[in-house]
Amino acid sequence: MNMRYSKISGWGKYVPEKVLTNFDLEKMVDTSDEWITQRTGIKARRIAADDETTSTMAVAAAHKALDVAKLTPTDLDLIIVSTSSPDHLVPIVSSTVQHQLGATCPAFTVVTGCTGFVYGLATGHQFIATGAYDNVLVIGVELISRFVDWTDRNTCVLFGDGAGAVVLTPSNTPTGVKAIDLGSDGAKGMSLAVPGLGTAMKLDHDVIDRGDHYLKMDGRTVFKFATRVMPQSTLKVLENAGMTIDDIDLLIPHQANARIVDLAVRRLGISPDKVFLNLQKYGNTSAASIPLALVEAYEEGRIKEGDHVCMVSFGAGLTWASAIVQWGQPLGDSAEIMDEDLIWDIDALRRKLARASTGVRVKARTLMEETSYKASSLMLPLYTSVGRRLPWSKKKEK
Ligand code: UT7
Repeated sequence: MNMRYSKISGWGKYVPEKVLTNFDLEKMVDTSDEWITQRTGIKARRIAADDETTSTMAVAAAHKALDVAKLTPTDLDLIIVSTSSPDHLVPIVSSTVQHQLGATCPAFTVVTGCTGFVYGLATGHQFIATGAYDNVLVIGVELISRFVDWTDRNTCVLFGDGAGAVVLTPSNTPTGVKAIDLGSDGAKGMSLAVPGLGTAMKLDHDVIDRGDHYLKMDGRTVFKFATRVMPQSTLKVLENAGMTIDDIDLLIPHQANARIVDLAVRRLGISPDKVFLNLQKYGNTSAASIPLALVEAYEEGRIKEGDHVCMVSFGAGLTWASAIVQWGQPLGDSAEIMDEDLIWDIDALRRKLARASTGVRVKARTLMEETSYKASSLMLPLYTSVGRRLPWSKKKEK
């Protein structure tokens, strides 16, 4: 059976109109534009209007992604909504989104905090890779401003609302989601929590009086965790893809804090030119942060056809998640190689592959160096299509 890859065929974003600047916050809590800028890099964030909900923002981003993919809601086979700020605890917001979109497919919610979009992307990819579904919509959305205590300067300066969505569709050439790394470490989970909502605590006036229905955070603990796992997870996902940091065209980190990103970038040794940041405009939009950045990076021309984009995030749980995605359909060259007559001259094949995209080049080199068939899921199509043309395949056939 041919390997099925999941290509990003559609993308869209939505941010509320209302802008809350650092100067606005100076009037609300004991803070300053200088402190927020120096400690976080954030200058402004968007805040949802009273008549907006998580589902309305998700649906707005989803419509745009579907338009780009040239699909209608009824074409969808699955909807995954990643959020920690749903409209209600029950019913799940993914079903509300499915209904509001007018889709007729299954839908579920992924709740892993800021890593939710990458967890959702990884999950959607599995459904496509196994052949279970064709058109999967993955949304990262957060209306976190309703869980923020606007009198707590430790948290209220950090967060904002927004939504980003992608449509995944199957492709039989290697593109789209190339590798993932997911992780969880619940030991320090309560360092980023809404302690009073859920079954661990009966919701009563004491909970409300203590403000335990709001987001609480031990910023330093989360900061230390983030600066450790961001580079670790990036290196792991690169290893899983058989790539090095030099193969990455753009790094899209979770947009939480420019200082966290800066430390991670220095540890990874990637040029800051290859790192995308829009947290200055939106703050930390949790599960929406990565897709919002992905869409804006594309809109600003920072992602081109065939580019390898590495997304890396950390968040509540505590969790981490990263993914390497190849943008577009860059493998025309490899299709050309596969359509040609058998190539027995290994150097000719090497030259051909060297002219193909970076992704193919990496896999081809690995293929030649590892003559034993150590099939990774990403390499199967090349083995099946190109492998039969190599000298050892010929011997085998005899
Ligand atoms: O998606 C994951 C979500 N969470 C995060 O990404 C958070 C990760 N952590 C961070 O980004 C940082 O820890 C913060 C930005 C939250 C805080 O920066 P920091 O450099 O770790 O500051 P701090 O917590 O060590 O606080 C330093 C000082 C404290 O005052 P004292 O105790 O030294 O007198 C704070 O009370 O800064 C004070 N402070 C503020 N001052 C002005 C805390 N928040 C503010 C504020 N304005 N908004």
